[in-house]
Amino acid sequence: MKKIALITSGGDAPGMNACIRAIVKTCLGKGIIPVGYMDGFDGLMRGACKEMTSDDVVNIIQRGGTILGTARSEAFRTAHGRQKAIANLTSNEIDGFICIGGDGSFKGASSLSEEMNIPVIGIPGTIDNDIYGTDRTIGFDSAMNTVVEAVDKIKDTAGSHHRVFLVEVMGRDAGFIALETAIASGAASVLIPEERSNIQLLADDLKRQGKRRSNLIVIVAEGDDAGGAKEVYEKLVPLMDGYTLKYVILGHIQRGGSPSAFDRILATRMGVYAVESLLNGITNQVICANGDQLHLLPISDVVQNESVPNLQHLDVIKALKTVS
Ligand code: F6P
Repeated sequence: MKKIALITSGGDAPGMNACIRAIVKTCLGKGIIPVGYMDGFDGLMRGACKEMTSDDVVNIIQRGGTILGTARSEAFRTAHGRQKAIANLTSNEIDGFICIGGDGSFKGASSLSEEMNIPVIGIPGTIDNDIYGTDRTIGFDSAMNTVVEAVDKIKDTAGSHHRVFLVEVMGRDAGFIALETAIASGAASVLIPEERSNIQLLADDLKRQGKRRSNLIVIVAEGDDAGGAKEVYEKLVPLMDGYTLKYVILGHIQRGGSPSAFDRILATRMGVYAVESLLNGITNQVICANGDQLHLLPISDVVQNESVPNLQHLDVIKALKTVS
């Protein structure tokens, strides 16, 4: 193997740069040329790429975003788009492909592998943590820390004004960020898509908790069945006479910022492992982390199965509500 291509794809996530750095340095150390394609599958179709040197990855381990750029490419879903990408990879004599991204990106990488018979490895990179087979995705830990820091601040003002705050967090259709940050920020309650929400029960619960605390925070997953924070606010206000409610949408600040130490380590280990896997003749697999161990799972298993947060964590939040 002489040349390995790499892309970042889908939503950017803190730690992607640490992963790019690890891939580039591992390749160079083994005499392989790493070729970075810009803007995910879009750059692959345009042929926008660069043979990377160690100078390209100096001082990037601590940087958020992705130096390669990223995109959610519609054109790559078409046969014509993929033909252009295959033509570029072939003319560049690429013999291995690493894709850092989420499920959609892995499906794209897998179709490349089928259509041009190139070995492919996926690395889970998304703040949502919604990838089957891995405990953690690159970026999730950093996004959680950003949310917790923001909620700590909101709690100060919520407590001072005796207000109820609904804080919307990202996660698309999954409640990982909401559930974990609700515990970490000592929230009064949490709404996640994996559990049916009942706004009347939420109102009763908040009024009960409101008798003994003045900083009531509800973390709302953006994909909750009751809606986002704004919709939940509109449904809750008529049920909470005597309370002042506010809602905050944290939005894209969750995707930015310097990666946590955890994400830097995870990303670096996964990057090294991805290159080594390709060199060991492995293809069509995703690198997964379980506890402290990295292992490989077929892309087909990863994309066909749904990843669900640990719902026992809801019991942890409920257990703490009963203290008067
Ligand atoms: O997949 C990561 C994510 O941040 C989701 O949590 C969110 O729903 C989505 O991306 C937002 O995507 P965009 O930045 O393309 O609007």
